[in-house]
Amino acid sequence: MSEPVVAQKSPYAIEVEAGKSYFWCACGQSSKQPFCDGSHKGTNFTPVKYTSETDSKVFFCGCKASGKAPVCDGSHSKL
Ligand code: FES
Ligand code: FES
Repeated sequence: MSEPVVAQKSPYAIEVEAGKSYFWCACGQSSKQPFCDGSHKGTNFTPVKYTSETDSKVFFCGCKASGKAPVCDGSHSKL
C-alpha cells in the first residue's frame, strides 16, 4: 500500500498527559485510532511519535492527509 487509509474525515480529540509518548497511526489501518496497533506491518508506513509537554487536548489527524501530522491541519476538508 502506498496511500494511507482514511480512518475518518475529521480529527480525534484526545486528552494527552504531559511527558507521555503517543504513537499516531500513519497508515490508517489501526483499529485503535488515532493510535498505532501494529497493523502497518508489511506496509511502508510507520507510526509517528508524539509527546506533549503539558496535559492538553490534541486533535490528531484521522484522515491521514495532514501536512502537520500527527495533528490535524484542516486538510480533511479537501477530501
Ligand atoms: Fe497504522 Fe501502525 S497501525 S501506523
Ligand atoms: Fe486529517 Fe484534519 S483529520 S487533516
